[in-house]
Amino acid sequence: MSTQALLALDLLTTILVAVAWVAAAVLAAHRGATANAGKPAPVGAGQSGAESQSGAESQSSGAGQSGAGQGGGAEGQSGGAGQGGGAEGQRGGAGQGGEGGAVGGRVAAIAVTAAALGLTALRVLLVGLLAQRGWAFVQEKALLSLPLLVLPAIAVVVFARRTSVLPAIAAACGAVAGVVVTLVVGYPATFFNSVIVVALTVAVFLLIIGYRRPVAVGLLVAALLAGPGSALLSTFTAPLHGVDAAPLRLASAALGPVSRFELTASRLASGAWGFNAQTPGPVLRASKGDTVEVLLRNTDIEEGVTLHFHGYPVPNGDDGTAGVTQEAVMPGQQFVYRFAADKAGTFWYHTHQVSHAGVKKGLFGALIIQERPEPGEEVLIFAHRLVTGAASRQVAAGTPVTLRLINADDVTHRFLLTGVSWRLSAVDGTDLIDPGPVAGKALRLAAGGRYDVTFTMPEGAVQLGVDGQPRLGLSAPASAVEMGVPDLDLFGYGKPGTAAPVAFDRSHTVVLDRQLRLMGGLPGYAYTVNGRTWPQAPELIVRKGELVKLTVVNRDREAHPMHPHGHQVLVLSRNGIAPTGSPLWMDSYEVLPGETWEVALRADNPGVWMAHCHNLKHAAQGMMLHIRYEGLVPNYHHHGDNHPE
Ligand code: C2O
Ligand code: CU
Repeated sequence: MSTQALLALDLLTTILVAVAWVAAAVLAAHRGATANAGKPAPVGAGQSGAESQSGAESQSSGAGQSGAGQGGGAEGQSGGAGQGGGAEGQRGGAGQGGEGGAVGGRVAAIAVTAAALGLTALRVLLVGLLAQRGWAFVQEKALLSLPLLVLPAIAVVVFARRTSVLPAIAAACGAVAGVVVTLVVGYPATFFNSVIVVALTVAVFLLIIGYRRPVAVGLLVAALLAGPGSALLSTFTAPLHGVDAAPLRLASAALGPVSRFELTASRLASGAWGFNAQTPGPVLRASKGDTVEVLLRNTDIEEGVTLHFHGYPVPNGDDGTAGVTQEAVMPGQQFVYRFAADKAGTFWYHTHQVSHAGVKKGLFGALIIQERPEPGEEVLIFAHRLVTGAASRQVAAGTPVTLRLINADDVTHRFLLTGVSWRLSAVDGTDLIDPGPVAGKALRLAAGGRYDVTFTMPEGAVQLGVDGQPRLGLSAPASAVEMGVPDLDLFGYGKPGTAAPVAFDRSHTVVLDRQLRLMGGLPGYAYTVNGRTWPQAPELIVRKGELVKLTVVNRDREAHPMHPHGHQVLVLSRNGIAPTGSPLWMDSYEVLPGETWEVALRADNPGVWMAHCHNLKHAAQGMMLHIRYEGLVPNYHHHGDNHPE
């Protein structure tokens, strides 16, 4: 079974097991109440006390649950109110139900308890299976959710002969806590948030059984204050100490021949935003060895702009990340970027201020650094919502053709070239080793990524389709292409180079997920990195010269195209399987749901760098973090006008 399916099944089981245990507890309590109605047994007295308490407490425990953002739990608890109703029936002393009802109730209670036990066993099994896919998939489930669920479930079995009411209520509390852990805690379960969850669970349990109410209320209040309280406190991050990273810019002594550009951002009549009144903006084209200098001006983009050179190893101060490497460029302001063009390839630039809106509205363009004047035909293809329509051009047979494909969109796109066999000669601006000829395969390009496709123009027509839509016709009008072909697997394409590194100076784990979080003071379903949202997300600290292993785990149900600034990473493995073809150096790699990628990062470009999901909507909802070189701090801050996301 795929990891994604296991994760989905585990989520479903978590909810079902909570519903089942709440039902089992309600039935057990109800039976206890009915059975004791006529007897003056001491247990009965305790029970009825518990029952009426639970009726009275269902409100406050419900409030506690919804405080934790747990609607389902609140409803489960109002099942507890029905339990209070049972207690009333008992007080009426009607002994309603009779023999047949009692037997029926007993059968129902046993059946529901058996189902709850079965689902508990299933949850244990699923967590066990998921653990085999990686500890990061189950850490908080194994250490927190399962003990809270399994220990009372064992008590239910052990004490089945005497009473199962208290263990069943405990199991119900533990099972509901499992839902809270999934939705709110996630990876990693720290000591602090584990204590809060356990305290909350114990408090709700005590309130339901009506034992030591002051203690229970105290625990509940403390847990409810500590959870959201610490979340709020963590938004006031402690100041970092170190040297400003911002002056990390090109020393002018290093300047070679200069390629100068000017980009002026403005609103267009169409409602889009453009550079130099066009979208995509003009191509920045330079030769390897040049110094690229770009003067950015903002005419009237009230939200502000910057320029980020996506995938290019620029100095940190020229990275264009508002609030991290510079202040946003507001209307009337300007900024000059400068970097050495020492790597040839296909890159792109875009605003990194309110980027989820700015890139979508058109503030982007291509950055092409050429090794040498390249003969033949070059076609630049953007995947972006504003780039529509099909083009065609006449190309003489025998002409070398290069297609530069750039995905400037939030989601993955599929490209298919027909009428010719082609080579994928570069990925994210880095050449592949010995790419072989391909035909009848589609190219799946992650958001932010680039592919260079090369071929020699044949006698006949060549078509390029994007997601089945006609896009480019060479020597023929563009026509739709049928996309029903497999994707080219980059992991087995081309020839291997030098062996991938196996020893690392440091490693970091990055777990991508969704969790209930405060966003701008309001609770929302955020995209989290190790349980946090930017700017609170944990930093990846590195030291200059180190070789760093990053393990990126996607526990979410959506794909996350991950993009580190300032560096390219070497792909080591996907789900434990290493590439067998050409080494893959990437700056935009798509981690699909349930996947684990291991990549190597060579810390050779000091600074404070952003790393984030390039589905920019996800980034805006939290999925960003910093790669920070030890001893450096960002000079600019996420305040006022600065909104890199
Ligand atoms: Cu293409 Cu942080 O960006
Ligand atoms: Cu994402």
